Amino acid sequence: MEEFQSKLKQTEFRQSGHVSARCPSNIALVKYWGKRGKQIPMNPSLSFTLTNSYTQTELKFRPKEQDGYRVTVYLDGMLKEGFAQRIHTFFERIEAYVPFLQDFEFEVYTHNTFPHSSGIASSASGMGALALCLVQMEENMGAGFTEDEKLRKASFLARLGSGSACRSVYHGITVWGETDSVKGSSDYYAIPYPYEIHRDFQRFQDTILLIDEGQKEVSSSAGHKLMEEHPYAKQRFFSANENLGKLIPILKEGNLPEFGKLVEHEALSLHAMMMTSDPAYLLMLPNTLNVIRKVWEFRESMSANLFFTLDAGANVHLLYPEKEMETCMNFIKEELLSYCISKKFIEDFSF
Ligand code: PMV
Repeated sequence: MEEFQSKLKQTEFRQSGHVSARCPSNIALVKYWGKRGKQIPMNPSLSFTLTNSYTQTELKFRPKEQDGYRVTVYLDGMLKEGFAQRIHTFFERIEAYVPFLQDFEFEVYTHNTFPHSSGIASSASGMGALALCLVQMEENMGAGFTEDEKLRKASFLARLGSGSACRSVYHGITVWGETDSVKGSSDYYAIPYPYEIHRDFQRFQDTILLIDEGQKEVSSSAGHKLMEEHPYAKQRFFSANENLGKLIPILKEGNLPEFGKLVEHEALSLHAMMMTSDPAYLLMLPNTLNVIRKVWEFRESMSANLFFTLDAGANVHLLYPEKEMETCMNFIKEELLSYCISKKFIEDFSF
């Protein structure tokens, strides 16, 4: 992709230094599940970028002479050897666009505001923050980016680290994956949602219930892979695309009931794909279902706008408008926390 080739005229910059960036996690409303080639999504997705759940990363660099990558990663000050391998793979994928990666040795100091075992994917915020650091480094070397170019390149690079990470670079609602419904959308990077958003969807709340803290049994990459031979894949990609189109008037009009119906359908479809994969697997746990049932009962009896979504795990994201915060939080605290590990939950929102 020509647009993302490095803008540096020459890479004679040989100074030590550091850059830092913060990037939040995100929760998809229309889910990305299935990819091809180099992290190209099989369907478009749309997400809320979160606020409180973010990664803060500092990238220190020092010039070096030898070929190859030298990266060490520290999470909360502790050396993480496993992470370095993932960053090597990331560097290999992005080197054509960031040509100075072999000229420096890097130390990555990273911190997540959410617990590592919380089930919030740190890959989206982590890869997003690292991509932002690299673009900042290129800028400091004289690239001369505009603010828009910087973010777009960071989104492009982040995608090559972890698909959904490309959506985290922008706040609010973002879209990734080419679709006729959204002007300017691309398979290569995310864009900020370009259409009108009703005020009820501003500062939308996401209370994340921690149902499981363990390591997931099947990783997202294995899940994406299983979509390649999945008997219902074609229909799923079609329906995600269609759902994204349907969401546009819903977001504009502030149609909360239709929003909930569509978002819950997306979450359940994602998990239905897992259950009908070969081999089949389940990431929901009994308490995931208990929470869903309670939410449905509550909605029925209170006519409140409280909805759920799920990512590739057992935890439940509870979504509701800020104006219904008091009713929803009272219900969550009284009725749902008993299903969480040690009553743990995270309060977040998208702005
Ligand atoms: O970005 P990945 O490869 O971790 O996949 C993320 C997949 C979901 O979280 C389930 C859906 C999404 O669009 O974020």
